[in-house]
Order: sequence, then structure tokens, then C-alpha cells
Amino acid sequence: MRRTLAAGNWKMNGDAAMLDALQQLQAPGGDNAPDILICPPSTLLLQAVAASENSPVRIGGQDCHTAASGAHTGDVSAAMIKATGASAVLVGHSERRADHGETNSDVRAKVEAAWGADLLAILCIGESEAERMGDDTLDIIAAQLEASLPDGATGTNTVIAYEPIWAIGTGRVPTLEQIVETHDMIRARLEARFATQGAAIRILYGGSVKPSNAAEIFTAENVDGALVGGASLKVADIQPIIDALAAS
Ligand code: 13P
Repeated sequence: MRRTLAAGNWKMNGDAAMLDALQQLQAPGGDNAPDILICPPSTLLLQAVAASENSPVRIGGQDCHTAASGAHTGDVSAAMIKATGASAVLVGHSERRADHGETNSDVRAKVEAAWGADLLAILCIGESEAERMGDDTLDIIAAQLEASLPDGATGTNTVIAYEPIWAIGTGRVPTLEQIVETHDMIRARLEARFATQGAAIRILYGGSVKPSNAAEIFTAENVDGALVGGASLKVADIQPIIDALAAS
């Protein structure tokens, strides 16, 4: 059975005062208790790790460079993220792909860099609105998955986050049927490529997840949690999402 995961991506938001929130988050009890991960900006990683000590919250980065070190002004390596005490890193978020021109092969190298630093890689994939309208979603997602995910993925080193670009920050969410169709396809591909490990890799849904829609999304068999942007910035919004996951 896959353990569920509630992950929050603060993006370029947050400050030291918001780290108090990390201590307020509660892990629901019971067999179904989800893992909880918060990904603050890299400048807050050290403080976030300290603030989440003795709490159920784990900390992750939002991006890493492909190289271990070198002349890459402004970037951070996976080992640097690991050294803060973080345990995971997002890679290939659509905002990185759009704002920084990251390709599937860049993202693949980042996943390998994350694994090399012993970080859980949370690989983000998702279709644009034009691709959705053109009925290309499944082909695009399958191609991204194939090209961005290196050989060697396991349930412990990798999480997939399906985030339709048109659903991010818009309040628009695919129908449950569309989410199920895409997640089932991702699961089938993972199992075809990685056998039992493919069955163990968690698949998160991301894109306008709110307390009001989380429970329905979590009814899907191959939705193993959520990657939450805006609603991860307030305890009052992320806690009910964590609770809905525990109840799913
Ligand atoms: P929102 O939850 O704000 O739509 O963002 C989703 C996202 O991009 C998480 O990585």
C-alpha cells in the first residue's frame, strides 16, 4: 500500500514568520496518516528544517541544478539542499519549464542529481490548455514521463506530480474522470517500465487543490496525494486537505 503525501509548494512566497505555521500543522492519527512535506523558497530551507523539528512536517526544495557544484550563479545543487536537512526536491515544475526553458532532458538530469544527493525527487508533469483542448493530454503526459524520468525510479526515490498547467493558480480543476484517466495512464506506464517499483511510486495531483475539492479528488485510486500551491500558504487551508487525505 502506498503511503499518501500532502506536499505544499510555497513558490516565491513566504517569510520567516510563516514558518510558525509549520509547528501548527497536525498529522492525523491512524493507519492512513499522510506524509506532510513543505517546499519553501531556498533561502528559508535551513530555518524551515529547524522549525519543523519535532513536528510531522518534512522540508523540500523547489528546484536543484543538474551539477554538484560550479560556476552557476544563483543556482543551488541537490547536495546543498540535502545539507540543509531537507529530504526532497521538486523538479520540472511547469513554472521552471516555462520561466527557465527547462527541457525534459534537463529535468531528467535534475532527477538524477536529486537521487545522487539522496533526495526524494518529485517530478512534475502536465499539459497546457491547448494540449488539453487538442485531446493530446495522454500523449503529452506519457512523453514527458518517458523523457523526464530516468531508469532506476523506485517508490522511495521518486514521486510523480501531475499538474495540468491550466489548472495551476486558476481555480479550474479537471473533472474527476479526467484526473482518473490521466493518473491511471501514468500508473500503467510506471508499472510497465518499473514493475513492482512502478506500483510503489506515488502519484500526486496538483492544480487548484482546495479544502472544497480535495476529498473528491482523493477518491481516485491512483491519486496518492496532492501538490498544493496557493492553499499551502495558510494552515487553515492546508490542514483540511491533509485531513481529507487521511480520511480517503
Ligand atoms: P495552485 O495550488 O496554487 O494551483 O498551484 C499548484 C502548483 O503549481 C503546485 O506546485
